[in-house]
Amino acid sequence: MNRIVTLDEFILRRQKDFPYATGELTGLLRDIGVAAKIVNREVNKAGLVNILGFAGEENATGDRVAKLDIYANEKLIECLSNSGECCAIASEENEDFVPLPPLEGKSSKYVVVFDPLDGSSNIDVNVPVGTIFGIYRRKSDPSGPATLEDFLQKGSELVAAGYVLYGTSTLLVYSTGRGVNGFTLDPTIGEFCLSHPDIQMPGRGRYYSVNQGYYLKFDVEMRRYIDYCSDLNLRLRYIGSMVADVHRILFQGGIFLYPNTRKYPHGKLRLLYECNPLSFIVEQAGGKAVTCQLERILDIEPQDLHQRATIAIGSAEMVDEMVEFVQRYSALPV
Ligand code: AHG
Ligand code: MN
Ligand code: MN
Repeated sequence: MNRIVTLDEFILRRQKDFPYATGELTGLLRDIGVAAKIVNREVNKAGLVNILGFAGEENATGDRVAKLDIYANEKLIECLSNSGECCAIASEENEDFVPLPPLEGKSSKYVVVFDPLDGSSNIDVNVPVGTIFGIYRRKSDPSGPATLEDFLQKGSELVAAGYVLYGTSTLLVYSTGRGVNGFTLDPTIGEFCLSHPDIQMPGRGRYYSVNQGYYLKFDVEMRRYIDYCSDLNLRLRYIGSMVADVHRILFQGGIFLYPNTRKYPHGKLRLLYECNPLSFIVEQAGGKAVTCQLERILDIEPQDLHQRATIAIGSAEMVDEMVEFVQRYSALPV
């Protein structure tokens, strides 16, 4: 019989693998695990209680905010204050970064970035949503307050990243830079249990994922690449929650694209809260992630907390092929 390994047990076991093995990261990951369980409870009963619908506000990047976004944001902030390991957070839902109150006698060395609820337009129709997070070691002096510089780090400097998918079951996937592991929430015991050890992404897959409705708004080389995917009889899947779309591709192989459009000339997805953490996970599983201008996502120097990026993320061979397409067609005279 297989022995059940809970998330807490797994994190503790892996603690020694981490370069700063003092248990700080362990505390942070546990805080996030607790927040995920609380958000999961609310997401699951969203249809039952009067928490659905829009709060009538816009977030820092101008999108409509559903009430559950605010709830998830508050719970993550509350839970990340528990261990005292996080000195400040930056969230898609807050204009500026938010310092967290220090615990007595503790100097926190980490900052956490997150998209508390990704795919929030899907909540009202019972379609999977998720939480995406990234953890950085702060640049500023641990005895003082956090600074903007702590957050404007390249994705390659992430010490850990992950996501929670509130789907047919609830899954937490994370990496500390030594492979990727997935944990499924067993609602009967209230624990995340190791269900997908050492996730490896297929080198190719049968899926491509893009908002095909914007096809005519994409640059010509991207349209050519999408035509090529269609010629290959790849299956188009687009949920509209990046976390769920990337999750499918992580497990089954394929490519997810969000290119620049006229409305979003720099792409729509946020570098800090969406692109970087998911690129970190995908690279750790053997995949690749670049912008549609062909820069490696994890190499981008962020200038702004809410910066957006275009993205092509997925199986290594398919991302390489997309890069070739863009290079070939952008070299042709118009
Ligand atoms: P969020 O709900 O956090 O604002 O993110 C929504 C994002 C992303 O999850 C998804 O892939 C994308 O928006 C969908 O955008 P389109 O509707 O433009 O395709
Ligand atoms: Mn999002
Ligand atoms: Mn969101």
